This record gives sequence, structure tokens and C-alpha cells, in this order.
Amino acid sequence: MRFEGKVALVTGGAGGIGSATASRLAAEGARVAVCDLDAEAAGALAADLGGLGLELDVRSDESIAAAVAAYLASGEAAYVTGETVGVSGGLGMM
Ligand SMILES: NC(=O)c1ccc[n+]([C@@H]2O[C@H](COP(=O)([O-])OP(=O)(O)OC[C@H]3O[C@@H](n4cnc5c(N)ncnc54)[C@H](O)[C@@H]3O)[C@@H](O)[C@H]2O)c1
Repeated sequence: MRFEGKVALVTGGAGGIGSATASRLAAEGARVAVCDLDAEAAGALAADLGGLGLELDVRSDESIAAAVAAYLASGEAAYVTGETVGVSGGLGMM
């Protein structure tokens, strides 16, 4: 339980590497904020993991700010972040 008592925010968290990362972090004791373009899938996985599902588009500063604000408003504080969606073509990684 390496992440007991900690919270983790995982972008692209509803699918592929992101969902595997979110699930592993939850299994290791973290409370996970599953952040994804697909809000429905993020919510479904978060419900399974006992975490928080948030809509987030890593291409949009406004979307990131809104998701982080919603996350902080939930009373959580970030200790671990996992970014599993990259953006190429000059926009950079979150
Ligand atoms: N799978 C691999 O072997 C592999 C290898 C090297 C790099 N990558 C990179 O790792 C990342 C994840 O790969 P994957 O195979 O898990 O992909 P995936 O398509 O299985 O999952 C990606 C998740 O990210 C979400 N997503 C897509 N665009 C988004 C956006 N703009 N904002 C927020 N969420 C978004 C999707 O809804 C999905 O839930 C990709 O950037 C991919 O290019 C993957």
C-alpha cells in the first residue's frame, strides 16, 4: 500500500495505459481522480475505484484548470500525478 492516504490525478485515466495506471494506484491505496476526455468512462472507472471522475482535455489549458479546480474543490490535495496522454506537434505534455 505505497500510496495509502495519498491522492493521484491521472490524465487519460479512463483508457489504456491511463486506466491501468489509475487501477494500480488505487490498488496501492491511492484515492484516484480519473481525468479523461471521455467523462462518462472516467466516471465509471472512478466509481469502480472509489475515486473521482473528471472531464479533462489535455489540449486545453481552460479544461485542465477547470478539472484541477473541481478536484481541489472536492477537498483533495495532489500528491501524485500520472500523465498518460501526450500531445505532439508543439503543444507539449501536461
Ligand atoms: N500503448 C502503447 O504501447 C504506447 C506506447 C508508447 C506511447 N503511447 C502513448 O501513451 C498514451 C496513451 O496510450 P494508450 O495506448 O493508453 O491510449 P488509449 O487510446 O488506449 O487511451 C487513451 C485515453 O486517453 C483519453 N484521451 C484521448 N485524448 C485525450 C485528451 N485530449 N485529453 C484527455 N484524455 C484523452 C482517451 O479517452 C482514452 O481514455 C498515448 O499518448 C500514446 O500515444 C502508447
